[in-house]
Amino acid sequence: MIESSDLRLTRMPLNNGSGQMPALGFGTLIPDAGVTKTATRDALEAGFRHFDCAERYRNEREVGEALRAGRAAGRIGREEIFVTTKLWNSNHRPERVEPAFEASLDRLGLEYLDLYLIHTPFAFQPGDEQDPRDQNDNVLYDNGVTLLDTWRAMESLVDHGRCRAIGLSDIGLNDVVPIYASARIKPAVVQVEAHPYLPETELLEFCKEKGVVLLAFAPLGHGMKPGLLEDPVISAIAARIGRTPAQVLLAWAVQRGTAVLTTPRTAARAKENFNISALPEDAFSEINRIQTRQRLNEVVKTGIPGFIAR
Ligand SMILES: NC(=O)c1ccc[n+]([C@@H]2O[C@H](COP(=O)([O-])OP(=O)(O)OC[C@H]3O[C@@H](n4cnc5c(N)ncnc54)[C@H](OP(=O)(O)O)[C@@H]3O)[C@@H](O)[C@H]2O)c1
Repeated sequence: MIESSDLRLTRMPLNNGSGQMPALGFGTLIPDAGVTKTATRDALEAGFRHFDCAERYRNEREVGEALRAGRAAGRIGREEIFVTTKLWNSNHRPERVEPAFEASLDRLGLEYLDLYLIHTPFAFQPGDEQDPRDQNDNVLYDNGVTLLDTWRAMESLVDHGRCRAIGLSDIGLNDVVPIYASARIKPAVVQVEAHPYLPETELLEFCKEKGVVLLAFAPLGHGMKPGLLEDPVISAIAARIGRTPAQVLLAWAVQRGTAVLTTPRTAARAKENFNISALPEDAFSEINRIQTRQRLNEVVKTGIPGFIAR
């Protein structure tokens, strides 16, 4: 358990020596372009320095613009922020990886990426259609490429110098292990849904043993109600220590040794979600004892994103 009271400053070293990831990250899965821009600016102003993007979110351009404007206003250097984006399922063929990476860099307006993730282990039919379907609305998967083929192309990006680290997302331990074993450049980060209802303990143990950062999404249960933000244990702890349920959930995530992504859409919530501090040990243990189990996003089973409109 991490005990530093200022969890906002927690940084996690990456296993390839390329730098450190700020544990508390801002996620950009925001469907509205205007809100993407204001929320990204607000997050930067509140103190967030880690930004999680994806070509599939279709807003890299807006995130890039907001980061440029916000950095200029706050005199924040490129090295002070950590930017991730993700390769979508329809770009798994090795020859499509570098063009997809370059297109993301171009939309974000960046010279390099701190981290590039394979968004899911599921390859869809290659092409520019992000959601390829047959007449019966079934997803068209691509059996002509393996995850290891795609991983090898990701490794080449690191060799070419414009991508500092690579990793996986929406993947279970059984699929992480063989990639980790065969990789020349080991995954630095694994991004998955994780919160007190889905603690992913085995995966976290594996990651800690190998020095891989587990990056948790949906730490607030994706804001669903009823859900984690109204859980009686979380609410009681929040009232007892004078914090909000969101602050309790984010602090728990960082204290247990994961990095975490959250998506506040207003300036007030950005400040609230950035302003986290360590939970007392008894509160931390109480959250670990929560027995409810719930997965909110089935993307890990199908590659079809749960929180993104088609
Ligand atoms: N790899 C993947 O497949 C994957 C999948 C999902 C997400 N992600 C990443 O993870 C990021 C975070 O995921 P998430 O959106 O599920 O995060 P989350 O922070 O668990 O949930 C966001 C929701 O919580 C609400 N919220 C935020 N701050 C709050 C607060 N202080 N009090 C009450 N409600 C609050 C927001 O409500 P309002 O809308 O009202 O502000 C929003 O609906 C995404 O942006 C994305 O970058 C990755």
